Amino acid sequence: MKFGHFDDVNREYVIETPRTPYPWINYLGNEKFFSLISNTAGGYAFYTDARLRRLTRYRYNDVPLDNNGRYFFINDNGTVWNPGWKPMRVELDSYECRHGFGYSKIASSKNGVKADILYMIPNGDNAEIQKVTLTNTTSQKKDIALHSYIEWCLYNAHDDNTNFQRNFSIGEVEVLGSTIYHKTEYRERRNHFAFYHVNSKIDGFETDRETFLGLHNNYDHPDAVFADKSTNFVADGWSPVASHRINVSLNAGESKTFIFVLGYIENDNDKKWAAQAEQGLLQTNSAMRVINKDKAIALQNKYDTVEKVEKAFNTLKDFWTDMVGKYTLKTGDEKLDRMAVWNQYQCVVTYNFARSASYFESGIGRGIGFRDTSQDMLGVVHSMPQSRVRERLFDVASTQFEDGSAYHQFQPLTKRGNADVGSNFNDDPLWLILGVGGYIKETGDEQFLKEMVPFDNNEKNKATLYEHLKRSFRYITTHIGPHGLPLIGRADWNDCLNLNCFSTDPNDSFQTSTNKDGKNAESVMIAQMFVYVAPDYAAMCRMMGDEAEAKFAEEQAAQMAEQICKTGWDGDWYIRAYDDFGKKIGSKECEDGKIFIETQGFGSMAQIGADKGYPAKALDSVEKHLDTKYGIVILDPPYKDYHIELGEVSSYPPGYKENAGIFCHNNPWVIIGEVKTGRSAKAWEHYKKIAPSFLEDISEIHRLEPYVYAQMIAGKAARRHGEAKNSWLTGTAAWNFVALSQWICGVRPEYEGLRIEPRLPAHIKNAEITRKYRGVTYKIDITNNNPEGKVVLTSDSASVTGTLALAKDGTKEVSIKAVIG
Ligand code: BGC
Ligand code: NOJ
Repeated sequence: MKFGHFDDVNREYVIETPRTPYPWINYLGNEKFFSLISNTAGGYAFYTDARLRRLTRYRYNDVPLDNNGRYFFINDNGTVWNPGWKPMRVELDSYECRHGFGYSKIASSKNGVKADILYMIPNGDNAEIQKVTLTNTTSQKKDIALHSYIEWCLYNAHDDNTNFQRNFSIGEVEVLGSTIYHKTEYRERRNHFAFYHVNSKIDGFETDRETFLGLHNNYDHPDAVFADKSTNFVADGWSPVASHRINVSLNAGESKTFIFVLGYIENDNDKKWAAQAEQGLLQTNSAMRVINKDKAIALQNKYDTVEKVEKAFNTLKDFWTDMVGKYTLKTGDEKLDRMAVWNQYQCVVTYNFARSASYFESGIGRGIGFRDTSQDMLGVVHSMPQSRVRERLFDVASTQFEDGSAYHQFQPLTKRGNADVGSNFNDDPLWLILGVGGYIKETGDEQFLKEMVPFDNNEKNKATLYEHLKRSFRYITTHIGPHGLPLIGRADWNDCLNLNCFSTDPNDSFQTSTNKDGKNAESVMIAQMFVYVAPDYAAMCRMMGDEAEAKFAEEQAAQMAEQICKTGWDGDWYIRAYDDFGKKIGSKECEDGKIFIETQGFGSMAQIGADKGYPAKALDSVEKHLDTKYGIVILDPPYKDYHIELGEVSSYPPGYKENAGIFCHNNPWVIIGEVKTGRSAKAWEHYKKIAPSFLEDISEIHRLEPYVYAQMIAGKAARRHGEAKNSWLTGTAAWNFVALSQWICGVRPEYEGLRIEPRLPAHIKNAEITRKYRGVTYKIDITNNNPEGKVVLTSDSASVTGTLALAKDGTKEVSIKAVIG
C-alpha cells in the first residue's frame, strides 16, 4: 500500500495522508542551523549540535507519536484545526505534505480555509522560515485567528530532559512587538539567544506553556486558541513557549501571507546587552538587562517580504540542483532513476548529521562517529564542496591517537574526542584510510597528505596526514592475535560483537565495558578490510614517494589474505571472528550464528582467495542461508540465548538489529562483491530488495519513508519481518550509493581517472550518466547488450585506456560511448 507518490519533476515526495505508518520526516538546513520536520510538522530545530544547542523542545517516544513541533492552529469560529493535522488531529478536508530537498510544504484545507505552508532554512542564515498563506475559498468573508506555537528547549537537550529542579526556574523571555525572545541563561554564560518572529502586527501572544494549553490540557485543547483573547503573559520560569496570535480577515477568495522566522543569534560578549530597554519591551522583571537585538532585527528584516523568501527559496532549490546534479542517471527504470537522486540527498543529510539527530536518534546520545563519518564521506565526496569534506577528514584524523587508534566518536561543536565512549574499536583506524583514499580519488588533492594534523587534538603534537594513515595501518599489523588475524578490541564494524565485554551486569554498556585484556579475540572482518584498503594505502605511500612503505603494505596485505584463507575460511564461507577462548564465530561448528554477512561482503569485495573460488562460494552461501524476500539478514541462525562471550549481538531478540536483522548497510557489500565476482544479475536482485523506492508499494509492511534507506529491516526470524526501523542516518546511504553509482552503474573515481565499467541489469538496454569529476563533466552514453560482456569505450574528448577515461587537457565536457557486450 502506498501513502503518497514521487513527484520526479519537482524532486519531492508527496505524502497524501497524515496517517502515515510512522512519522515520515525531512531535514532542513545544511550549514549550522538545522531542523527535523515530519509530515505533520513535528520535530525540532538546533544550532550545530543537537545535544548542546537545541532550540525547540521535542518529546521523543511520546504518546501519540511525534508530539511537538512548529504548529499552527486556526480558529475558524470555534472550529480549531492544524494544517499539519497534529496535534489536534481534527479531520481535514484536504491534506498534502511535500518533502523536497531542504524544504517541506504542507497544504491543507478545512471549511473553506486553505493553508499553504513552506518550511525552509535558507543558506547562509541561522533561521527557519515558515511562510504561511491562508486563503478563503468560500464566497463569504471569514474572520479567523491564526496562532503559531513552538516550545523552547533550554539549549542543553540532555539537561532539558532531566534536570527539572533547575529547569522549572530558569526560563526567561522578552517580548518586543511581534517577536518573542528566548532569553534563558543569557544572563550568565550564554552569549546566544533564539527568537520567534512574524512579519505582521500581532493581536496577542503567549510565552508560557501552561497558560497556552491550560494546566490539565493536552495539545488537542489549547486554552489560548479556544479563548477569544490572548493573556499576553510573560513567562517566568516553568516552560517558556512562543505563540503569536493574529486575527485574519479574509474576503471571499482572498489570500494573506505571513512569514514567521525562528532565528538564532550570537552576540560578542561586550555587545550582549542593549544600552536601554526598547519602548514597549515586555519582560518579567523590568530591572533586568535587555538583549542587544541588532542582529536579530537585521535577520528578521532579511525575510520580511514574500519576494525575499521566494528568492531565498529559489537559491536553495538551485543549491540542491547543483548538489545532486553532479551525478545523474537516466535508465528509463523510474524507480532506479529516482534512487540516484534521493540516495544522494540522504547521503548529504547523513553526512551533516552523522548519527546524531533523527526520529530514532535522540540527538543527545551520540556525536560524530570516527568510522561512521569516514564512510559517509564516500557518498558525498563527489557532490559536496571539497573544502567541507576535507575539513571533516581533518577533524576526524585530529581525534586519532599517536598509536593509530582513535576516539570512537567526537562532538561536532567542540570537535573533541568523546572520552565517555573512548577508543579501542579496532576497525576504526582503517576507515580513515578508506575515507582519505576516497577523497583523493575524487579530487586528486594529493597535497592533503602533507597537511599537519594533531593527534588527540593536541596542537603541540602534530604529524602529516600521511603519518596518521601510516599509524592506522601499523595499528593493525601490531595488534595480531593467536590465529594471525587482527585483534577486535571492543568491536569492529559490528558494534555489537563485543568479544571482550563479558558483562553480567545489566547496568554495563556493551560498548564501553571491557573485562578481558583483549589479547585473544580476533576479527576476520578487520583482516579483510586490511586487505581491501591496502591498495589505497600503497597508492598514497607512492604519492608521498615512500616506495618502501608501499611494498611493505602490499606484502602485509598478501600475507593477511593468505592467513584469512588458512584460519578465516570455513569451507563454504568466511568465518566471522574468534572469541576470547579461540572459538570460531560464524562457522558451521557454531550452534547459532553460523554465518555472518559482513565477512562474505568484505571477503568478496577484497576478492580473498579468488584463485580458489572463495568469493563465489561465499556469495552462494549468502543466497542459501541469509537471503530473504526483504533483503539479506546479517547472520543466521539468530542467537537464541545471551552469550557472555559475544556481547550485545546476542542481546537482541531473533530477527532484530545485529541479531539477524536485515542491515541495509552491509547488503551493498554483497552487491559490490557480486559485481566484482562477475555476477551482476545477482547484484541487481539484492539491490531491488532494499532500495526504498522499490518498497513504496509495501509501505504498510516497511512502514518507514519510501524515499530513504533505513538502517535495519526486521529479519526472517522476527514476527514483523519486513518492517524497517531507524531511517535516515545510517552508513547504508553512502554504501548503497557506492554500490549503485560505482558498481552497478560502474562509474568510479580512481587515482588516475574515471573507471567506466557499467554492469546494469539486462532490462536496461540504454542509459545515460553524467558525472562531474575533477571539474569536468563526463557524459556517458551506455549501450547494454550483455551485462557481463566486454566494456568498450570510445571518445573524442577523453583519453581512454581500457576502461579508464580521463579528459584531455583543457576539456570541460567529455562524451564517452560505452558499449557492453
Ligand atoms: C546498536 C548498533 C549501534 C550501536 C551504537 C547498538 O545498540 O545495535 O547498531 O551501532 O548501538 O553505539
Ligand atoms: C550503527 C553504527 O553507527 C555503525 O558504526 C555500526 O557499524 C553499525 N551500527 C553496526 O553495528
